[in-house]
Amino acid sequence: MTVKEKDEKFFGRGGPVLDLEVEKAKGSYVYDPHGKKYVDFLGGAGVGNLGWGLEDVELAIRNSRRPSYVYPHFYYKPWAELAELLAAITPKHLTTSFRMTGGSEAVDAALEMAMMYTGRKKVLSIEGSYHGNTFGALSAGTSSNGDKFHNLLHGFEKIDPPLNQDSLNKIEEKLKRNEYAAVIMEPVIINLGVVIPEESFMEKLDQLCKEHGTLLIMDEAITGFFRTGKFFASEHYNIKPDIMCLAKALSSGYAGMGAVMTTPEIAKAIKGKIGLYSSYGWHPIGTDAAIATIHYLLNHTEELLSNIEEVSSIFKNELLKINFKKTPEIRIKGMAVAVDLKDEEYASEVKKKALTNGLLMNTEGSSLSFLPALNISRETVYEGLKILKQTVESTK
Ligand SMILES: Cc1ncc(COP(=O)(O)O)c(C=O)c1O
Repeated sequence: MTVKEKDEKFFGRGGPVLDLEVEKAKGSYVYDPHGKKYVDFLGGAGVGNLGWGLEDVELAIRNSRRPSYVYPHFYYKPWAELAELLAAITPKHLTTSFRMTGGSEAVDAALEMAMMYTGRKKVLSIEGSYHGNTFGALSAGTSSNGDKFHNLLHGFEKIDPPLNQDSLNKIEEKLKRNEYAAVIMEPVIINLGVVIPEESFMEKLDQLCKEHGTLLIMDEAITGFFRTGKFFASEHYNIKPDIMCLAKALSSGYAGMGAVMTTPEIAKAIKGKIGLYSSYGWHPIGTDAAIATIHYLLNHTEELLSNIEEVSSIFKNELLKINFKKTPEIRIKGMAVAVDLKDEEYASEVKKKALTNGLLMNTEGSSLSFLPALNISRETVYEGLKILKQTVESTK
């Protein structure tokens, strides 16, 4: 049986499969078993911010003398170290981190914390968004989940984009009732095809949350770790989120890792009342990977930021030169790039053909979505964009 046949027979999957069997991945390239090389503009959907197999992380993992496992209720030096590092890199009022195995668990824990802290049960989120696959995360995500899962949580309400004064009025109407535990969103909504809220929107939202005792949760699962040109995308705005969810690029892809960051005040208020036990939360391998990843980000901040700026402008300029069927809407924040083709079928056709031609990307609805490694070279960016251009020109 081929891998494909075995996969189809034995392997459970929710979503569609891309026709690529991966044998190895290095830097900004992925390779199949026949040695075919693919330029990676997909970046594992936000996991591979530093490319694959980064030496610093690889060596840290290889050279560590960690135990195979640490029971969550013990002390463990690298946990304390990682928590201290996270407190140093996130906005300075967020100093307590809770360990998680990934983004969905982080979102659920954040929602649970907000409910416990406020004593309220309702949650407001952005329609069409994605926050993961656990029940809380699914309930905060797109309402279309409701068609598939009939037991989503009650009390989850949505605000429709576009995010403007009109939506702020609707949010105010709701928050005024003092029933909402939290508003949760991505600070740059990558899962809607890099929707970039106005600063004034985010600032007013933050203000409304503060006025009405609702916690503001920033889901930075994808936007974190310099993806949008700031350490965390929340820093693009003058806002003070109460809780931040981290995941994905935290461990550079070596292990499932996530974190919920909050204030000492919230952490203290929920202490002893909430479970948050996670058998594999911050497994020693993932913890080593996360510490090495953060050290790398801190030691290479300037070169990463300058690469992000350069690559971001290459995307801006070069995408304009591609003859898409209709003029697309291009949305870019740092190295979160979306090309909205306004046609879902066309977008998925381009993605499929690009794969055959050796370029990996994602689609979000009608948008092509690119999340290349932040340390990708100019040559590889041009190589990928050349494949994109050829693909588009042969997809009419
Ligand atoms: C914004 C956001 N939140 C949460 C998640 C869920 O993360 P995980 O897949 O690690 O559970 C994702 C995953 O794509 C995400 O994009």
